[in-house]
Parts: sequence; C-alpha cells; structure tokens
Amino acid sequence: MTEIQRVGVVGSGLMGSGIAEVCARAGLDVLVAEVNRDATEAAKGRIAASLGRGVRSGKLTAEDRDGALERLRFTTDLGDFHDRNLVVEAVAENEQIKTEVFKAVDKVVTDQQAIFASNTSSIPIMKLGMATSRPEQVVGVHFFNPVPVLKLVELVPSLLTGEQTQTRAEAFVTEKLGKQVIRSQDRAGFVVNALLVPYLLSAIRMLESGFASPEDIDNGMVLGCAHPMGPLRLTDLIGLDTTKAIAESMYDEFKEPLYSPPPLLLRMVDAGLLGKKSGRGFHNYA
Ligand code: 3HC
Repeated sequence: MTEIQRVGVVGSGLMGSGIAEVCARAGLDVLVAEVNRDATEAAKGRIAASLGRGVRSGKLTAEDRDGALERLRFTTDLGDFHDRNLVVEAVAENEQIKTEVFKAVDKVVTDQQAIFASNTSSIPIMKLGMATSRPEQVVGVHFFNPVPVLKLVELVPSLLTGEQTQTRAEAFVTEKLGKQVIRSQDRAGFVVNALLVPYLLSAIRMLESGFASPEDIDNGMVLGCAHPMGPLRLTDLIGLDTTKAIAESMYDEFKEPLYSPPPLLLRMVDAGLLGKKSGRGFHNYA
C-alpha cells in the first residue's frame, strides 16, 4: 500500500487553505488547485497570515513556517494532480461543481489506491463517489474552521466506500494531521452541522423577529453558556453563503422546517453580506 505523501487540495477558500496549511505543516507535499490567479494569491495570503500567527503564538518556529511554505505549491490546472495519493476537495458547497471536480480528478490521478476525499458538510458522499470510476475510494473528510485550531474531523463513508479507504483516511487524519475523528452516516449535515445549523438559524430567526439585538444574542451564548463565540458571529465566521448552502441541502434531504434558511439569511446573501470574509455580516469587520 503506497504511503500518502503527495496531497492535492482542490479549492482554497477558508476551508481549503486551512486544510492545505495543516497538510504542509505535517511535512506533506501539497499541491493546491484554484480557478485563477486572484484566488491563488488570496489563498497564499491567508496561509501566510495563519502560519505567522502560529509563529507569534509560539506554536511554530520560523523554520517550521518556512518549511511549510516550501512544501506548498499552487496550480490552476487539475491535470497537475496526476501524481497525488490523496485529493481533498474543498470547493463551494454546490453539488454540480463538486461532482465536476470528482470526475476531473478521477481522470487524471494515476495512483490506483488514491483516496478522493470531500470536505463537504452536507452533499451526499454517494453522489460524489458515483461521479468517479472508483466510488470505493471516495470518502467524506469534514474539517472545522479554523482548521489549524479545531481538532475534529468527521469521517463519512458512503454505502460504497471500501474498508481500506476508511482505515487509511482515518490513520492519515489522526496520525499525520493530529486530528480526532468521529464517524457519521452519509446524511446531510452529518453529526455536527445537524446539531449546529438549526441553532444558528434559530439565532437568525430571533434577530429577524426583533426579539434581541445581535450583540445580546451573541453575548447570551458566550457569557451564559461559555461558547467561544455567539451564533451570529459564528455564522459570520463560517460565511452566510456557506451556512445557507448547508441549510438548503439539509432541508432538501429531511424537509425539516428547522433547517429551512430564514428570509433574512437569504437577503443578506443576495446583498453580498457574507460575514467576516466580505467585511460585513451580522457584525462589521472593516
Ligand atoms: N490559524 C491559526 N491559529 C489560529 C487561528 C487561525 N486562523 N485562529 C485562532 N488561532 C489560534 C490563536 O493563535 C490562539 O492561539 P493561542 O491560544 O495559543 O494564542 C488560539 O487559536 C485562540 O485564538 P485567539 O485568542 O485569537 O481568539 P479566540 O480565543 O477568540 O479564538 C477561535 C478564536 C479559535 C475562532 C474561537 O473563537 C473558536 O473556536 N470559535 C468557534 C469556532 C467554531 O465553532 N468553528 C466551527 C464552525 S462549523 C464548521 O467549520 C463546519 C462547516 O461545515 C460549517
């Protein structure tokens, strides 16, 4: 069995750049695919800032940071992924875009034991697996934001994921990346978002109905329940567009009213108020 040494990460938004960073920090050769130069430059900046933060907080040495940066390369051509042993897809939470990525990667990767992982939080792994010629090698590997800080990875096999793929993926994220795994069935939202998203949407509905201010809703959960951040600030961190997309996938799957995105969330996404990454969401970040 080939050891996983060469990792490809498709998409370098908040999650993709975090995943690329932790893989490079773990000593792996990492190739990141993006759609264009601007997106690539943005990802490089995010990763450099995060590694710098690691150095300032004493978690990394300057040599660790420089070594990680040297192990990271970028491309706009998925054809360059031919020699990868593991590909982690972290593009937008959109089924069509994700299936296109899986089809493309399946065509170019030559390692017959390669693992194709998705960081999706709500799209069926089965659908992504069926977009490839090797669904037994496709598995959900769902990280949490900020990836360098949060320990959890949800491991999500589809009905067709092979035992060997599951074992190798689990060993990789625990032994190489130092994360902790929980397992979930292939159901929209998996374990964490199935619990978290209705809570975030409830906070948005509370704000929408004029029940309380954003500050008081967030302070309530920080000061009263010792959460590290309140639900509206957390939605800003995740991204309102991503929260909406996850809620819609969960609503599609279960038709549970609690998963239905409230109108305020929809209007804010239409307005481009996407949270921290756009400078404004429920709070301001300018
Ligand atoms: N990269 C590297 N290190 C980081 C970092 C980043 N992006 N962000 C924070 N850190 C480090 C800091 O250096 C600091 O380290 P230190 O304690 O050794 O100095 C530590 O993390 C704490 O950071 P700060 O003191 O700057 O800030 P906070 O104490 O306010 O913590 C937070 C920030 C880690 C974001 C914390 O508020 C938190 O954990 N919030 C909850 C996040 C959460 O719930 N995420 C899950 C979202 S759901 C998801 O991702 C799934 C998806 O499908 C939606």
